[in-house]
Amino acid sequence: MAERAKRDDPPVPEPGIRLSGESLGIDVGGTGVKAALVDLATGELSSERIREKTPHPATPDAVAATIATVVGRVLEGRDAPATIPAGCGLPGVIKDGRLMTAANIDSGWLEVSAEEVIGAAIGRPVLAINDADAAGIAEMTYGAGAGHLGTVLLLTIGTGIGTALFIDGRLVPNMELGHVEMRGKDAETLVSGASRERRGLGWKRWAREFDQYLDRMERYFWPDLIILGGGVSKDLARYERWLTTRAPIRPAVHLNASGIIGAAFAAAAAVATPGGPSVDTAVATKPGRGRSTATKRAAPRPRATPRARTTAARATPEVAAPAATGRAKRTKPKPAPPQA
Ligand code: BGC
Repeated sequence: MAERAKRDDPPVPEPGIRLSGESLGIDVGGTGVKAALVDLATGELSSERIREKTPHPATPDAVAATIATVVGRVLEGRDAPATIPAGCGLPGVIKDGRLMTAANIDSGWLEVSAEEVIGAAIGRPVLAINDADAAGIAEMTYGAGAGHLGTVLLLTIGTGIGTALFIDGRLVPNMELGHVEMRGKDAETLVSGASRERRGLGWKRWAREFDQYLDRMERYFWPDLIILGGGVSKDLARYERWLTTRAPIRPAVHLNASGIIGAAFAAAAAVATPGGPSVDTAVATKPGRGRSTATKRAAPRPRATPRARTTAARATPEVAAPAATGRAKRTKPKPAPPQA
């Protein structure tokens, strides 16, 4: 009999799931380590957002120490039970709680379990997730992609290019589309936010190259919506006119907090204690109907390790139908790729 494949991806929230309570989100980026508590009902930060510079070299020990400081400041003076879920976004592929790639972080991370190192530093279990996946979850739950069905591609343009792909609201984890080839190079070394600055490109020149990158994304994935996050997304008005995508482009709503919010949400959604709270997922057949008759009760997906199972939620999973689906306007048709 064929052996069942082991599932190593971080657990992915059910599309349309709504949660309440609080969760801790941490975001480790190339330049900053950030954390805050998140109100899961609204997606708003319920504490101050604390940020410290990412140490260099960004070794596991150095980053874990910075995370401990940042989280200590977030929780200072608060009664934060150990059961509050905690999630941490990291800039690389995450399998089985560890980084498998390290383009913008020290390669020492490839040797260790990120969940164990960070969990030990903050004294509570933590869920590790790719940083762009976390940002995407935040935008699909509370931001620019809320309720959007079809194929949605989120890009975070910062130190690197992070990508998150959603099909009918469900994340396909660990898409590393910032590393596709462009002119013989790794795309993020040409058109990430940091590359724009390093190469001294003005908005027009950068946008023309970035548009070529988006063109590749469209030829491969045909997204219905593209969400732009990361540092450059707040400047969209300056270069939007040079982007020629078929899919509409929307800036991320939660700009520099989306990584925190999504990591917090993913951790809370993954919470499972045998006999503990369960999650309802509502499948709304029509927008605006609220909870549909198709609502089904589903047990939350348990994490593989007993350690992670102790992330018992103060967050009480609740139900909500996905928000009204809105297909954004179509723009130009895409010419067919050249025939061989
Ligand atoms: C990494 C991705 C990450 C992105 C943004 C890339 O270099 O490979 O995993 O999401 O940077 O941090």
